[in-house]
Amino acid sequence: MAVLLLFFMLPLSISASGESSLISPEKASGTVGGGVILTFEDKYKNLSLFGFLGIINNKFIEPGCQLSESLFILLFLNHMSLKKYIHFFGCHVSYLICGTHDAFIGVNIGSDISDMPGPTEIVALLKAQSIQHVRLYDADQALLLALANTGIRVTVSVPNDQLLGIGQSNATAANWVTRNVIAHVPATNITAICVGSEVLTTLPNAAPILVSAINFIHSALVAANLDRQIKVSSPHSSSIILDSFPPSQAFFNRTWNPVMVPMFKFLQSTGSCLMLNVYPYYDYQQSNGVIPLDYALFRPLPPNKEAVDSNTLLHYTNVFDAVVDAAYFAMSDLNFTNIPIMVTESGWPSKGDSSEPDATVDNANTYNSNLIRHVLNNTGTPKHPGIAVSTFIYELYNEDLRSGPVSEKNWGLFYANGEPVYTLHLTGST
Ligand SMILES: *[C@@H]1O[C@H](CO)[C@@H](O)[C@H](O)[C@H]1NC(C)=O
Ligand SMILES: *[C@@H]1O[C@H](CO)[C@@H](O)[C@H](O)[C@H]1NC(C)=O
Ligand SMILES: *[C@@H]1O[C@H](CO)[C@@H](O)[C@H](O)[C@H]1NC(C)=O
Ligand SMILES: *[C@@H]1O[C@H](CO)[C@@H](O)[C@H](O)[C@H]1NC(C)=O
Ligand SMILES: *[C@@H]1O[C@H](CO)[C@@H](O)[C@H](O)[C@H]1NC(C)=O
Ligand SMILES: *[C@@H]1O[C@H](CO)[C@@H](O)[C@H](O)[C@H]1NC(C)=O
Repeated sequence: MAVLLLFFMLPLSISASGESSLISPEKASGTVGGGVILTFEDKYKNLSLFGFLGIINNKFIEPGCQLSESLFILLFLNHMSLKKYIHFFGCHVSYLICGTHDAFIGVNIGSDISDMPGPTEIVALLKAQSIQHVRLYDADQALLLALANTGIRVTVSVPNDQLLGIGQSNATAANWVTRNVIAHVPATNITAICVGSEVLTTLPNAAPILVSAINFIHSALVAANLDRQIKVSSPHSSSIILDSFPPSQAFFNRTWNPVMVPMFKFLQSTGSCLMLNVYPYYDYQQSNGVIPLDYALFRPLPPNKEAVDSNTLLHYTNVFDAVVDAAYFAMSDLNFTNIPIMVTESGWPSKGDSSEPDATVDNANTYNSNLIRHVLNNTGTPKHPGIAVSTFIYELYNEDLRSGPVSEKNWGLFYANGEPVYTLHLTGST
C-alpha cells in the first residue's frame, strides 16, 4: 500500500473531453486546492484517478516532489493497453524528477582551447543556435555572469581536482556552493551540479569520498533552500556497466558497489538522475566489427540485423538505447528501479587519424542529427518507452589542446571562431 500526499489550493475544477475515459493532458484545465491524502491499495486499478492526479501533478506540484514506489511501478508496466498512459505519465514523472517536462538537448562547453572565445561570444553563439541548456566543466565566473538573464539553463561542475577537498570538508563544499552557485542564482538559471566527472574510471582514488562530496554539496543547497531547483549528481562513464549486451544482463562493476549503492540512495531520495556518458563511437570502434556502423549511427537497419535481447525480447535499433537500457537494468540489479537517466555526454568526432576512419564529418553530422531527433521525440528506450532521456551533446567547440588521438580534438559542433564544423539543426531544442 502506498500513500500519495498532495497539497493544493481550492477551488478544484477539472474539465475534460476525449474519446477515452482517461482525461488527456491537453484537454484538462482547472485550478486545484486544499490538501488530500489518497491511499492506493491496488496499483493496477483506478487508472483514471491516476490520470487525474497526473494532470494535477503536471501543473501544480513542485518539481522534486517524491513519487510513491507503486505509482512508479505502474508507470513502467509494459502492457500494450497501458502504453499511452505510460507515455503521459512518463512525461510528468521526468518533469517531477529532473525538473523538465520533456526531454531536452543541451551542449557541453569544454575549454581546452588555445583561442578560447570570450563569454559574450559564447553566449552570442548559444543564442544564435537557440541552445537552451549547457553544461560547464567548472563554474567559470565570467561565463556564469554572461549567462545571466538569458533563460539558458546551466549545469555547473565541481572539477575533479577540487573533489578531494570538497569530499573531506563540509565547509569547503559550502564555500564552493556560495561562490559558484548562490552568487549567481536566480539571474543565472543553474539547474544542476555535476560533482566530478567520470570519477570512478579517471580518479578512482577519490571514489571513497564521492558520496560525501555529493552529500556536502547537497546540504549546502538545502541550507540555501535551493535543493528543489538544483539537482546534484555525478556523471559516470558507461564503461562501469559490465556485460552490457544483452541489456537485461548488465550490471555495474561490483568493485564500485560501495559507492554506487549509497549514490543511488541519494539520487532516489532527492529525485535526481543517474548521469551517464554514452559514446556509441567508442563502443563501435572497440567492437572489432561486431557492432554495425549503421546501428551506432541510428540509421535504419534491416529487421534481421536488429539486436534482440533474448531475455526480454526487446528490439534495439541503436547502440545509444541499448547502453541506456543496460544502465536501467544495472540499477535494477541493485534494486533501484525508479531513478531516471540523463546523458551528460554523447557525440561523434568529425575527424580522426588513420586508425579512426569513421571519425568523419558525415558520420558526426548523422549521429548528432539523429540523436537530437531521437531525444526530442521523447521516444525513450525499449525498456522505458516515453521516459525522457535528456542529453548533452559533446560538445560545443573543438578543443585543440586536448591530448590523445586526432579525434579527441574534433568532437565540436563549432570551431573556436564560431564557424560551424558542419550544419546541424539545433533549433527546436528546448
Ligand atoms: C478504485 O478501485 C477500488 C477497488 O477496485 C474501487 O472499489 C474504487 O471504487 C475505485 N475508485 C475509483 C475512484 O475509481
Ligand atoms: C529555470 O529553469 C527551470 C528548469 O528548466 C525552469 O522551470 C525555470 O522556469 C527557469 N527559471 C527562469 C527564471 O528562467
Ligand atoms: C554540512 O553543512 C550544512 C550547511 O551547509 C549543514 O546543514 C549540515 O548539517 C552539515 N553536515 C555535516 C555532516 O556536518
Ligand atoms: C572493475 O573495476 C576495477 C577497478 O577499477 C577494475 O580493476 C576491474 O578491471 C573492473 N572490472 C572489469 C571486468 O572491467
Ligand atoms: C534485491 O532484492 C532481492 C529481493 O528482495 C534480494 O534477494 C536481493 O538480495 C537484493 N539485491 C541487492 C543487491 O540488494
Ligand atoms: C517518435 O516517437 C514515436 C512514438 O512515440 C515513434 O513511433 C517514432 O518512431 C519516433 N521517431 C523517431 C525519429 O524516433
